[in-house]
Amino acid sequence: MNSSSPLRIITVGHVDHGKSTFLGRLLYDTDSLSDQQKQALQFVGDHQTEWAFLLDAFLEEQAQNITIDTTQLVFRTLQRSYVMIDAPGHQEFLKNMITGATRADAALLIIDVAEGIKQQTRRHLQLLSLVGIKQVIVLLNKMDLIDRDESPFKSRAEEIKKLFSQYELVRPQMIPIVARSGENLVARSSQMSWYQGPTVLEGLERMTAAPSLENKPLRFMTQDVYRFDERRLIVGRVESGTLRVGEEIVFFPGRKASRIQSIEEWGRAEQPESATAGKSVAITLEDPLFVERGHIGSAKNEPPSEGREISARLFWLDPEPLSLHQPVTLQLGTQSVMGRVITITKSNSLTNLDESRSMISQHDVTDVVIQLTRPMIYDCYEEIAVTGRFAIVAQRGLGGGGVILNGGKRNSVSAFIKSDHLTWSISAIDREMRKKQFGHPGAVLWLTGLSGSGKSTVARGLEVLLHHRGMATMMLDGDNLRHGLCADLGFSLEDRSENIRRTGEVAKLFAEAGLMVICALISPFNADRERVKESCLRDGIMFKEIFVDAPLEICEARDPRGLYQKARRGEIDHFTGITSPYEVPTAADAHLLTEASSCEETTKQLYEMVLSWVDSGASFQT
Ligand code: ADX
Repeated sequence: MNSSSPLRIITVGHVDHGKSTFLGRLLYDTDSLSDQQKQALQFVGDHQTEWAFLLDAFLEEQAQNITIDTTQLVFRTLQRSYVMIDAPGHQEFLKNMITGATRADAALLIIDVAEGIKQQTRRHLQLLSLVGIKQVIVLLNKMDLIDRDESPFKSRAEEIKKLFSQYELVRPQMIPIVARSGENLVARSSQMSWYQGPTVLEGLERMTAAPSLENKPLRFMTQDVYRFDERRLIVGRVESGTLRVGEEIVFFPGRKASRIQSIEEWGRAEQPESATAGKSVAITLEDPLFVERGHIGSAKNEPPSEGREISARLFWLDPEPLSLHQPVTLQLGTQSVMGRVITITKSNSLTNLDESRSMISQHDVTDVVIQLTRPMIYDCYEEIAVTGRFAIVAQRGLGGGGVILNGGKRNSVSAFIKSDHLTWSISAIDREMRKKQFGHPGAVLWLTGLSGSGKSTVARGLEVLLHHRGMATMMLDGDNLRHGLCADLGFSLEDRSENIRRTGEVAKLFAEAGLMVICALISPFNADRERVKESCLRDGIMFKEIFVDAPLEICEARDPRGLYQKARRGEIDHFTGITSPYEVPTAADAHLLTEASSCEETTKQLYEMVLSWVDSGASFQT
């Protein structure tokens, strides 16, 4: 077997269990050292320190020749090349994991056969299960300390097997070795003839490398979008798969598709026809799609998942524990999404087991469900690691990280676009004709705010004023729509999002018909409101976001239908402001404070604004 991609192996082991000695000796026995390095090796007394020293010298020289992290050791045998990745400490390891530095195909775990399993060994197994490594070799080192005897080796091996199944790891290959004298590394030990299994090198050569990233589905992570005249350059990194000029690309969220017109790589005179995983490039598309930082491009038939609820395995680094429902930010590539852990499904806590159901302590590895305030684009870690892992930022900075356990609902693009053969039928009555008929163009006026903030009252008042002025209006109130169009929706994050999407679509249709559409919905999430806004503006329809603002205490005191009281008593779930968040608009076109002035005044104030928007011709293309 001659494989071109190197096998990446994580090496883990307790500090005193002989990892450096093993690696030094392995380099020596596989003839990976230069003559100079070999000469430098002094064979005197106990070799232990010399092998470790040799390893250091090797790493130093390697670092001078190629720019590589000194915790990665590169060597090759006749069969193929290897990258040994040192997992220095728990903390570093996990940090590397977030950045992807610990991507590995297999692991070598070194255990002192005389000492056996230590607390640190358990941590190491946690890490391996977290990274999802399926191929593991356990080296039971220092066999000379137990007289190279089979029976203590066997009982140690049994203990280790049990521990592996506890961490849901596959059964490892166990090899008895003496690293110092190289027994069973490359050459078979003549003093352990009872051992018939593979040597370390044979074990390594049997392992298989994961398919390279460029053969995985395409994931193009957008970093930035630059506009030059009519052209838009979408800058990003091909995280996996391959981009090709002329091929279709679908961007998430939004699921808008276009073809790649060009790929532009910095500093290259001739522009490439394709770009593979690991490349940062700029692309241009045939159609002017709305794409921004955080959006992910994929092929149509291999889309990523999109959702507001993810199952993940978390690891926590911060000494300050993470509590259930504590707001945190998840960073997945260039996406940054707010969320919180809502359920702990399984805890491998090494510390306080009693508290592990409501708190995640430092060094815990925990399976959780995370709820997000807007949909995140992701993959299952086992399928595509780069878009399946994330960092968690809490109040004090980086708190931990996680890997996504299952893809959840797979989003087939065709589930949204039911047919490729749909067309858009164009009415004979155009926008100008409607504008002439009504005396004004259509528009969407979107009122957002807490329940009890006064949205519906202001919306009703505004409609009356506009109507008296002779304008064509329509009111879409959240409560009303939930009796019909949205009667199948509840108040989960997903349902609210769908509620806003549907209402947005209906509002657009009315606006297209030439009406001033006044929408009054809590619409608690920026991302949902943004989506409606983008959709309107893209089609040249005026959209104004109006924040109807009253402090929660005031809304709660008003409580016209007693809903807050019910929510406080736990009779209504996910109640906005109490048990479900409200994201304050960051760039509203109008901000109405209903606490300070009367309803009439507020309505009048908004009416004046609407007239000015309608009058200023440019406003329709904001
Ligand atoms: S939205 O969040 O999806 O925009 P929408 O405006 O349609 O909400 O509906 C809000 C109305 O539903 C409230 O005025 C209230 O009468 C009712 N309601 C029932 N349950 C809830 C809840 N859990 N949170 C908020 N409003 C609720």
